[in-house]
Amino acid sequence: TPPTLIDRFGRRVDYLRLSVTDRCDFRCVYCMAEDMQFVPKSEILTLEELAQVAQAFVNLGVRKVRLTGGEPLVRHNIMQLVEQLGAMEGLDELVMTTNGSQLQRLAQPLSDAGVKRLNISLDSLQPRRFRQITRVGHLEQVVAGIDAACAAGFERLRINAVIMRGDNDDEVLDLVNFVKERDIDLAFIEEMPLGRIDDHDRALTLADSDWLRSQIEQHHSLAALGDPSGTAGPARMYALEGSRSHIGFISPHSNNFCHLCNRVRVTVEGQLLLCLGNEHSVDLRELLRSPGTSMQELQETLQRAMDIKPERHHFDNSEEPQILRFMNATGG
Ligand code: GTP
Ligand code: 5AD
Ligand code: SF4
Repeated sequence: TPPTLIDRFGRRVDYLRLSVTDRCDFRCVYCMAEDMQFVPKSEILTLEELAQVAQAFVNLGVRKVRLTGGEPLVRHNIMQLVEQLGAMEGLDELVMTTNGSQLQRLAQPLSDAGVKRLNISLDSLQPRRFRQITRVGHLEQVVAGIDAACAAGFERLRINAVIMRGDNDDEVLDLVNFVKERDIDLAFIEEMPLGRIDDHDRALTLADSDWLRSQIEQHHSLAALGDPSGTAGPARMYALEGSRSHIGFISPHSNNFCHLCNRVRVTVEGQLLLCLGNEHSVDLRELLRSPGTSMQELQETLQRAMDIKPERHHFDNSEEPQILRFMNATGG
């Protein structure tokens, strides 16, 4: 049987989240501090190294790669990597999470290169508020990007929204209508405590998924689509009656999904991160840059790393140290 990645808890890892940059043209308040230090160029993996990492994972049975960031589409020459991965044998699902700012230009090339699905962040439909949340983004640019993606032939598109109480919690139904009009999906994400931010107190603004769902169900019927399985993610998805849209909830606080975890991350510094909510990691960059390292050695390192994949995050345990890594440096 071909080699696979299985951790101590019997979870099969068949999904890699590959961060191609920690940089971003936005500065979302829940993701970054206002003034961020980015990783210097000499410390980030080259496009060749990123492709090598992906190849090692695919050799170990990984069938899905999600390109993340930061904003993946601000990485120079990113389309070269996308095209290479799009053609990689054994890689069935190449997908991406993006803030949408570059999609007017890049939606069609991404689709043509074999990217199957996009998740696009959109937390507000009000221009001033959108600006406030992203600190620098333009709503019209992102909506135009989403519409370009709608026309580009992707299998599915999903909007990601982080709802914060006292901020954008009055836009839940507007966001539902936005996706319904376009026949695309929507996932509401409970904010996670990565990195120290001073924009708001995350404990006080958390909008839990049950509350969001009850808001929606006052106006729409939602039919549960069953438990996530396969390479599907942690979102609990519902069909929105009278439409082709699915509405999902990613609930790290109110509905822990760690037992279903099927993924690991590689940061743009080449750190293999075994869990979003823990520090357990293995340095792949040094290995990639030592002369003579074989693909076999790289794969063995990945297999050994499975032994340190933590059982779960501890976001809600105040005894546990706060994760200082910001989301943009983590790859979502
Ligand atoms: P698929 O699994 O590919 O369907 O997508 P996703 O929902 O995991 O990907 P996306 O990049 O759109 O991320 C949406 C949210 O889910 C982000 O806030 C991620 O940080 C979060 N997320 C993704 N994977 C994990 C995970 O393993 N654990 C936790 N706690 N959150 C995750
Ligand atoms: N908690 C939850 N989701 C976050 N994202 C960024 N920072 C956070 C956070 N602290 C979301 C973005 C994007 C996805 C990759 O992660 O909105 O949609
Ligand atoms: Fe950029 Fe995404 Fe972070 Fe916003 S959430 S700052 S768009 S990486």
